[in-house]
Amino acid sequence: MSLPREQFSSKLGFILAAAGSAVGIGNLVGFPVAATKNGGGAFLLIYALFVFFICLPVMLAEMSLGRHTTKDPLGAYNKVSNNHKGWGFAGFLSVLTPFMIGVFYLVVTVWIFGYLYKTVTGDLSQLAQPGTFGEFVNSSSLFIYMVVVVAVIYSILVMGVKKGIESAAKLLMPALFIMLIGLVIYVLTLDNAFAGVSYYIVPDFNKITAATVNGALSQAFFSLSLGMGILITYGSYLSKRDDIVGGAKMVAITDTAVAFTAGLLILPAIFSFNPNTNTAELSDSSVSLMFVFLPKIFLALQASLGYVGASAVAATFFLLVFFAAITSLVSIIEVTVASLIDEKGMSRKQALGFLGGTMGVLAVICTLSFGMVTMFTEFTSYAGASKSVFDVVVDIFYDTILPLNGLLVCMFVMRRWKKKQFHAELSEGNDSYEGSWLQKYVDFSLSTFIPVVLAAVFINIVAQKYFGISLLDLI
Ligand code: PHE
Repeated sequence: MSLPREQFSSKLGFILAAAGSAVGIGNLVGFPVAATKNGGGAFLLIYALFVFFICLPVMLAEMSLGRHTTKDPLGAYNKVSNNHKGWGFAGFLSVLTPFMIGVFYLVVTVWIFGYLYKTVTGDLSQLAQPGTFGEFVNSSSLFIYMVVVVAVIYSILVMGVKKGIESAAKLLMPALFIMLIGLVIYVLTLDNAFAGVSYYIVPDFNKITAATVNGALSQAFFSLSLGMGILITYGSYLSKRDDIVGGAKMVAITDTAVAFTAGLLILPAIFSFNPNTNTAELSDSSVSLMFVFLPKIFLALQASLGYVGASAVAATFFLLVFFAAITSLVSIIEVTVASLIDEKGMSRKQALGFLGGTMGVLAVICTLSFGMVTMFTEFTSYAGASKSVFDVVVDIFYDTILPLNGLLVCMFVMRRWKKKQFHAELSEGNDSYEGSWLQKYVDFSLSTFIPVVLAAVFINIVAQKYFGISLLDLI
């Protein structure tokens, strides 16, 4: 006899767990970098519009599908479609995608943990040296850090939904908010901090191009953990009394607020380090910002705080990012855990053991693909660029399949499951949804332009990534 499905103990527990999933490396580092590069306030505005007008309806679709079916994503697609093969494939994609994104996210989380460890043990000055990151990603100590990170994730997930995921979120998320706000307050007291704030907030509409708009949408989509089956899975742990609509709004607001606040930390820090920062020189990637640029900034604080003080600030920052990454990893791995439990009848422990093995092997291969093993480093090449295993995983699953999964979930909910049932599900736990403006908007947008936009993003990415053709330049 199977046990009744576990549920979150409260709406707050659910919101913190889902916000824990949404708030991740993408918010704390990816968002500030993207905003800086793409016109500051102008990007913020476009981003916020995308969050509420495009991502929120998709979020409602995912959460309600999960709660209605009380299943993992594969089970949800199969149940509603009566085991239709084509839709089963969409379900399969929404389990495979989080599995593979989990692999690359694990690799980056291991780096974060390594940087945290090194800062705490007094090695900040070493981290600030040029070339350190290149050596670090090729060092064997990574495997020890990986064991620690996997053990942390395991110990959370093995406790289940309430005692594991929810309790961890209730502890880590408030700690994250406090550290973030504390760091922002500190950074704003530094000289020239406000030059960074104004660079971040004052809109520069000249920098907005078709590519920027596309980038803002992808960033919003990833940041809200859409297309990864996570919200279907977390939705399946909600009770019928819970208000999905209110919960989804809170998650979207929290996620956006954290991303915005992270910019108030990163940009003032950059400008106080160098008031004449030419942002064109700032790297495009969150990885180099976090692992190459920021350690230098933290070390420079020793002039006023001393080495220990500077290390404490750096450690707080890496701990903050580490907490954000852990709650995201937990959510993404839970998708596959739920699938193995629901579809294969495994126990939670068996599922975790199986995943620890398979994801661990893949994460090791990705880790080796930064130079340690040539075969993995120069794995393949397309569109004129050589690609490592890590690059391929990011290109395929993060860049390409996420918008496709979003498109499939919209079509599935509106056409196969049918609008009526979808809205009825959203009305449970929310008396004011039926007949509201929101309902009309969700109905209209999900059946018309949102799928079109997601299809366009998908086609553009395929053309650009794999064929080297930029469709946006043709506009
Ligand atoms: N929202 C997360 C972020 O911004 C994305 C994510 C969620 C990635 C869950 C992996 C797992 O980093």
